[in-house]
Amino acid sequence: MSNIQSVLHETRVFNPTDDFVKQANVSGMASYRAMCDAAAKDYAGFWANLARETILWHKPFTRTLDESKAPFYKWFEDGELNVSYNCLDRHLATQPEKNAIIFEADDGKVTKVSYRELHGRVCQFANGLKSRGIKKGDRVIVYMPMSVEAVVAMQACARIGAIHSVVFGGFSSKSLHERITDAQAVAVITADGQFRGGKAMALKPAVDEALSLGGCKAVHTVIVYRRTGGEVQWDDNTNVWWHDLFNSQPSACEPEWVGAEHPLFILYTSGSTGKPKGVQHSTAGYLLGTMVSLQWVFDYKPSDIFWCTADVGWITGHSYVAYGPLAMGATQVIFEGVPTYPDAGRFWKMIQDHKVTTFYTAPTAIRSLIKLGGDLPKQYDLSSLRLLGTVGEPINPEAWMWYYTVVGQSRCPIVDTWWQTETGCHMIAPLPGAMPIKPGTCTLPLPGIMATIVNEAGDEVHDQHGGFLVIKKPFPSQIRTIWGDPERYKKGYFPEEMHGAYLAGDSAHRDEDGYFWIMGRIDDVLNVSGHRLGTMEIESALVSNPLVAEAAVVGKPHEIKGEAVVAFVVLKGSRPADAAAAKKLAEELRNWVGKEIGPIAKPDEIRFGENLPKTRSGKIMRRLLRAVAKGEEITQDVSTLENPAILEQLKEVIK
Ligand code: WT7
Repeated sequence: MSNIQSVLHETRVFNPTDDFVKQANVSGMASYRAMCDAAAKDYAGFWANLARETILWHKPFTRTLDESKAPFYKWFEDGELNVSYNCLDRHLATQPEKNAIIFEADDGKVTKVSYRELHGRVCQFANGLKSRGIKKGDRVIVYMPMSVEAVVAMQACARIGAIHSVVFGGFSSKSLHERITDAQAVAVITADGQFRGGKAMALKPAVDEALSLGGCKAVHTVIVYRRTGGEVQWDDNTNVWWHDLFNSQPSACEPEWVGAEHPLFILYTSGSTGKPKGVQHSTAGYLLGTMVSLQWVFDYKPSDIFWCTADVGWITGHSYVAYGPLAMGATQVIFEGVPTYPDAGRFWKMIQDHKVTTFYTAPTAIRSLIKLGGDLPKQYDLSSLRLLGTVGEPINPEAWMWYYTVVGQSRCPIVDTWWQTETGCHMIAPLPGAMPIKPGTCTLPLPGIMATIVNEAGDEVHDQHGGFLVIKKPFPSQIRTIWGDPERYKKGYFPEEMHGAYLAGDSAHRDEDGYFWIMGRIDDVLNVSGHRLGTMEIESALVSNPLVAEAAVVGKPHEIKGEAVVAFVVLKGSRPADAAAAKKLAEELRNWVGKEIGPIAKPDEIRFGENLPKTRSGKIMRRLLRAVAKGEEITQDVSTLENPAILEQLKEVIK
């Protein structure tokens, strides 16, 4: 059964236990409903109260929401604050010696960093940034492995009002270059390399290569953290070692107070066109979103040991590693390595060793760990766990049930959290002491989040057929604009038909309890292992290869990754003569895409044709290609095709 079919037949319901309800921050459905009602009655007041209670303001705000230039919304605009102050300084008086970070390296070495130490390190590094002339509003690229230093780098940028743009270490030099130039960055913070699965991998060469590609003249500083000790190329004019910059600095640094709408960061993500978009987030609204979602969805308690396994290169690692847990004063685990090294018990061993209470990961990780050792969790003491979470893609009920019974021992609620890079924090997710949960649904919107489902005309649909997922009212943590491209922001997220609602780009339907079931993207975006990939991005990477004339990329269901990438390629020359030649060329093109975008974008499968299925007006019929990729019988009418014979060629799978 496909995921979607099995999800449609899901009927199991799990109520929170009495013990969980009793201790929950939001306890019982009535409390949840009361919060929703409060938001419905006085929307601005609801968020204003939360913002006053939750954030430490340097200067209080007097205006809550400014909609005059919609959809360019402003929240708490005349207030002033600093995110790093909210994450670090605020804990110095109350809990300076509490562990902020328990860092476990790839090789198992554990380092603990207290709030006092982390504050000192962030201040010291912030001073280092200032000594290089980096100042408020400057853009700084962070291209780092998972480390305490990656968090220090992000927090230090926030402390001085610089805008960071973290680029996931798995992206190629080309992708890095694209982001450096689009953001017009002045500095890059990186490492010599990173350890993953017992191997050292270089990072710095990608930075050197990116900077050599041109258009990066604004970059005057490259800060290099020594992690692997591998050899690095050095440019004395711009390169500086992290430790040299750091050690000479004092460990006190007055935070730069910024306006609530000052951009905290830009994070690039894939959209429908070939060019990634720089999602710009605010300071106060974003911080508020991360904090309230930790309280509501993760039911955060000061005694928790929180572990979100996401890399800081993704929004999940921003909101639930670098910012949210620190703002709440939590102790969190940060892990450098991979879940399968030294074996597939690594996550479970770490939960046991660090007594993790709250564990947040992606369905793809769960599925691969089931495959590698479904009984492994039983060998570890997982009794510290009290709450589990998932993010990034729909979770199939089979994986959900395993997570619930084997990892959570039928004791821990699962919060299936639907949100996006653009929303900054959870939007639709269970409040675990309130909602009964069901496998495969992210349940109900957070209080104050006006999510609903509409048809193509933008009208709300109340039956169970489904439609487009939208959020009717602006909310504090939402994207402010696309860096350098306000038109794309407006057109992409607030198309006229939606009457001012935020169009998320997902389709969804609701069941009889009003629970949301996410069905997948409505645009040309794939979700591969919980990562967003634009089909157009992969297509343009393919056609930039001199051998390729044309390419079309579609997704097909994949047991572990959720979706796999299938590319249909037309060569400038003739089709490969035999299977061996096709296989060789496919491998070459896969590696090409790996170099152009990053290994995560490598097509799982490449098929060659003399042409692509097109209508007489020349439009590629993607629907057909999706069916071909899945190996489905073609039942659609192909009479409008210019070249129906081409389908036979494209059915051939290279083995
Ligand atoms: C897209 C956003 C949010 C952090 C990770 C991904 C899909 C996300 C769920 C979920 C079903 C989900 C959606 C969304 N998605 N969470 N719980 N259930 N689908 O962030 O890279 O911005 O991707 O991921 O399709 O639009 P992202």
